[in-house]
Amino acid sequence: MLVDTFGRTATDLRVSLTDRCNLRCSYCMPPEGLEWLPKPELLTDDEVMRLVGLAVRDLGVKEVRFTGGEPLLRRGLPDIVRRTAELTPRPQISLTTNGIGLDRLAGPLTDAGLDRVNVSLDTLDRDTFKRLAHRDRLDDVLKGLAAAQDAGLEPVKVNAVLMRDVNDHEAVPLLRYCLDRGYRLRFIEQMPLDAQHGWTRTNMITADEILERLSAEFDLAPDEEHERGSAPAESFTVDGGPATVGVIGSVTRPFCGACDRVRLTADGQIRNCLFATEESNLRDPMREGASDTELADRWRKAVWAKRAGHGIDDPSFLQPARPMSAIGG
Ligand code: GTP
Ligand code: 5AD
Ligand code: SF4
Repeated sequence: MLVDTFGRTATDLRVSLTDRCNLRCSYCMPPEGLEWLPKPELLTDDEVMRLVGLAVRDLGVKEVRFTGGEPLLRRGLPDIVRRTAELTPRPQISLTTNGIGLDRLAGPLTDAGLDRVNVSLDTLDRDTFKRLAHRDRLDDVLKGLAAAQDAGLEPVKVNAVLMRDVNDHEAVPLLRYCLDRGYRLRFIEQMPLDAQHGWTRTNMITADEILERLSAEFDLAPDEEHERGSAPAESFTVDGGPATVGVIGSVTRPFCGACDRVRLTADGQIRNCLFATEESNLRDPMREGASDTELADRWRKAVWAKRAGHGIDDPSFLQPARPMSAIGG
């Protein structure tokens, strides 16, 4: 088991498979992109599988989520999903993606054993999409979403980050769009994780603001069926239900006290928190011949050292050196 000094247990492993992306969302990356990790530093598919297997068999991990950058850019993804689905005990397998390429891959990934998918969609307006993500790919994202639903990856979840004076007027249209199609929408507070360090508290649209905007058009009530627990989203029924909308108030309504996550980066580092300032290297010991027992030991120590919370409100808060695209949401 992966436990920390606050009594939390990490059962949810988030595996970043690449730091590359085909979009440039401004809350994440600059338009020119970043210096990508060199290929030899990335874990190979076999190395990923060794660590995922260890986590599931020996360390109590029950859910494996593949993230990026953009995980669909990793050629071996269907094979990695298939091999993860063959593990005993069989973990839940999910994916967080920008949706580009899902129209082609949703079927093969479902066949390989993928259970669920979360797709980022911040706007329904083509020009706003171009302004926000610096690429003209809105149609590809919408096609990807539809394909995920057709492939049976339900419930399809949609993540939207609202930014002041960019897309914050779209809360209501985004919810209507998702309600019409049966997607489960979650709004996310923007966190200080962009490579450009441009995050400000005033530009962040808070959970309270999001709920206020939605309440002008919809009747929202706390959703008793979906308790927050260790999930980041607080859930609300819309117009009496059964449809729901989620709000992920990572900054103003943190869920750190119930966090059950641990992260593996594409270059084989364990991060015990999105906001960790230190990482534990599993790649190098693995390449130098460490046994499973040694790797498991290192992993346990890394989680043991997890801090109580992200500390964004502390005067001494420092944004982590790794941007979101290299951590994996
Ligand atoms: P499910 O609820 O299981 O579908 O997954 P999820 O919501 O954890 O996954 P997703 O990758 O879609 O993450 C959505 C958002 O949750 C991210 O953009 C983050 O804003 C937030 N989030 C995910 N993990 C963490 C975490 O460990 N800490 C904090 N503060 N926020 C997180
Ligand atoms: N703050 C909040 N959410 C973010 N994401 C990416 N960067 C940020 C940020 N700075 C979201 C993406 C995606 C998920 C993995 O994380 O929109 O849905
Ligand atoms: Fe890519 Fe995701 Fe970052 Fe957007 S948030 S640029 S989709 S990695």
